[in-house]
Amino acid sequence: MREKRPIIALDFPTYEAVAEFLAQFPKEEKLYLKIGMELFYAEGPQIVKQLKVQGHQIFLDLKLHDIPHTVESAMKVLAGLGVDMTNVHAAGGSEMMKAAKKGLIEGTPMGQPVPKLIAVTQLTSTSEAGMKKDQNIQTSIQSSVVHYAERVAFSGLDGVVCSAQEVGLIKQATNANFVCLTPGIRLKNKEQADQKRVMTPEEARAIGSDFIVVGRPITQAENPLQAYREIFESWNREV
Ligand code: C5P
Repeated sequence: MREKRPIIALDFPTYEAVAEFLAQFPKEEKLYLKIGMELFYAEGPQIVKQLKVQGHQIFLDLKLHDIPHTVESAMKVLAGLGVDMTNVHAAGGSEMMKAAKKGLIEGTPMGQPVPKLIAVTQLTSTSEAGMKKDQNIQTSIQSSVVHYAERVAFSGLDGVVCSAQEVGLIKQATNANFVCLTPGIRLKNKEQADQKRVMTPEEARAIGSDFIVVGRPITQAENPLQAYREIFESWNREV
């Protein structure tokens, strides 16, 4: 199921910076926001609660990776915060992923939907040479990504974070309902920053992405609201 709203990556260091950014949007506009490690560690769980009270949806991007029991307990807490989606590293293994899911189910307040749980396969900052050297995985990076995606699906999670280029292969190896969330999104002719392989929202949609995550093209734009509207429109354009 494709989410209509692009997820905005709130890569800001403080709540004040977030508030200043959000002040540029109409108050009644409900957004889907990604909180990563920097903001969460700076502001604590309160930031999730504050943004939820304002009616926004939250993807909490903390990429948990620890022993199953620890991850299960942590997920119980995160579910209690009311996040809509969160994630783990697939490298933590199937037992850890199942424990994460169990923790989310246990921690979800009665009557609320269980948060979506997705996994990171290989970080996009990992090169094939780096993977072989550091992880001693002697295959192509693509086959490692697909293998992890299969393990994620087997463990009962909802999907993965992946580059838009990998969506087709991953859906083929798992199933059409397996969620693919893709960062690395840029509008045509705009700066790519440090993202190497990028796609437009329209291309990501055509290729089957279910969620797109967009950071700097919106947060660093001269007019963030206009940039958001352009990306929203490109992501939802009828073809
Ligand atoms: O600014 P930009 O649009 O590149 O931001 C993308 C967001 O998605 C950032 O928060 C970044 O950490 C995250 N991300 C990514 N690539 C991944 C996983 C997450 O760019 N593979």
